[in-house]
Amino acid sequence: MPNIPTAGSPRPVRLDDKTKSVMGRAIAREQALSRLLMTYIVTGLIFMLLPGTFLGVWNLIKISSREAAESISPAWIQAHGHAQLFGWVGTFILGIGFYSIPKLRKLRPFTLWSAWLTWALWVIGVTVRWFSNIYPWHWRIALPLSATFELAAFLIFFQAVASHRPSRGSPKPLEPWIFVVIAATLGLLAALMLNFGASFQVALNAASPAFPHLFDQRYLMVSTWGFIVPMVWGFSARWLPVFLGLRPLRNSILILALGFNILGVILGLLEHFFAGGILLLAGAATVVAAIRFFEPTVKPAKTINIHRSFPVFIRIAYGWLLIAAVLGIWAALAGVAPGIWGASRHALTVGFIAAMIFCVGQRILPSFCGMRVLWSPKLMFIMLILLMSGCTLRVASEILAYQDYAKWAWSVLPVSALIELAAVALFAANLIVTFARPPVVVTSALTMTLE
Ligand code: HEM
Repeated sequence: MPNIPTAGSPRPVRLDDKTKSVMGRAIAREQALSRLLMTYIVTGLIFMLLPGTFLGVWNLIKISSREAAESISPAWIQAHGHAQLFGWVGTFILGIGFYSIPKLRKLRPFTLWSAWLTWALWVIGVTVRWFSNIYPWHWRIALPLSATFELAAFLIFFQAVASHRPSRGSPKPLEPWIFVVIAATLGLLAALMLNFGASFQVALNAASPAFPHLFDQRYLMVSTWGFIVPMVWGFSARWLPVFLGLRPLRNSILILALGFNILGVILGLLEHFFAGGILLLAGAATVVAAIRFFEPTVKPAKTINIHRSFPVFIRIAYGWLLIAAVLGIWAALAGVAPGIWGASRHALTVGFIAAMIFCVGQRILPSFCGMRVLWSPKLMFIMLILLMSGCTLRVASEILAYQDYAKWAWSVLPVSALIELAAVALFAANLIVTFARPPVVVTSALTMTLE
C-alpha cells in the first residue's frame, strides 16, 4: 500500500482501501466543483467585458460627444445594465453559491448536472436579452423568452442549493449572515419576477424592448439594493471579520441593517424614493457599524498572496456605499435629475459592488478554483487604483455635466470611462492568467475549509 504524506506530519500515514476510495471521490468532486466555478467566473468576466463595460463605455462616449444624457436609446442603456448586474455579478454569485453554500451549511451535495443546466439556461437567457435590446430582431419573442430562461435557471439553482438536507445530523443553526444571504437570494427572485412580468408586458404592448423609465427605476432598486447589496453584506459578514482581523460581528445590528434595507427597497418599489433612500442610508450606516470596519482591529489582516492594500480598498468600497445612498436621497429630492441618479447608481455599482468583487474575488477565487494563487498582487493594486480614480471622476463629472453645472465636465466623462475599462480589463486578465496556471497543491483540496 503506498504511503501518503500529510501536511504537518513528517511520518507517512497508511490508508485502507475504503478511506482511499472516499478520499478519491472527495478529490474528484472538489475538482469538478472547481471546474464548474471557473466556468461560471470566466463566463461572468466575458459578460462584464464586452456586453457590459464595453457597451457602457460606448454609450458614455456617445452621450458625452452629444452633451445630452437622453441622446442614446434606453434599450442600449438597459442592455449594458442587465449585462453587468445579471451577466457579470449574477453569474459570479450563482457560481460562488453553488460552490460554497452547501459546504458552508454542511448540506448533502447537489447533483452537478443541475449546476451545468443552470449555467446553460442563464447564459442563453442573459445573451438573448442583450441581443434583443441591441438588435430588435423578433424582440417580442426574444425578450420574454430570455426572462423565462433566467427565471428557470434561478429556480434550478434555488432547488439545488437551498432545499437539500444536511449530510448528517441536523442542519447547522442559521447564522445571521445566512439570513442576509437568503434575503438577497429572495431579492434576486423578486428582480427576476419583475423582469419576467415586464418583459411580457412590454412585448405585448410597447413599441420598443426598453422598459418604461419609471418602472426601470423601481426594478433597478430591487436588482441593486434588494439583491446585490445584501449579497455583498452577507458574504462580507461571513469572511471580512477574519480577513481584516476585525472585532466580532454585531449580529443583531446586522439583522437591523437588513431590516432597514428591505424596508427601503419596498418603499423604493412603491415609488417613495425619498423615504426609501433614508432607510437605505440607515441600512448602509448600520451594516458598517455591525461589521465594525472602522473600529480598531484585533488581529492583522490576512493578505497573503494578495496585495496588502486589500483592507484599505474594502473600507473605501463601504465609503462608496454610503456616498451612493446619500446621492440617492439627493436625487429623490431633486426629482428629474439624470446626473444625480446616474452618479448614485455608479457610486453603488462601480464604487461599491465592482470594488468589493475586485477585492474579495481576488482573495477567494484563486483558492476556490483548485487551490491556485493570484497571478499578480501588484496588478490587483494597480487595477483598484484605476477603478477608484475612474469612479471618482465619473461620479463627480456626471453630476456636473448632466445637471449643467459645468460644461468642461463633459470632456472628463470619456476619460473616466476609459480608466474604468482599463481597470476591468486588468481584473479579467489577472483572474484568467491565474486560472491558466497550475494549482499549487492538489491534495490539499481535501482539507480545504472556507475561512
Ligand atoms: C466602465 C464602466 C462603466 C461605464 C462607462 C458605464 C456607463 C453607463 C452609462 C453611460 C449608463 C447610462 C446612464 C448614465 O449615464 O448614468 C449606465 C447605466 C447603468 N450602468 Fe453603467 N457603466 C459602467 C460600469 C457599470 C457597472 C460595473 C455596473 C454594474 C455592476 C453598471 C450598471 C449600470 C446600470 C444598472 C445602469 C442603468 C441601466 C438602466 O437604466 O436600466 N455600470 N452605465
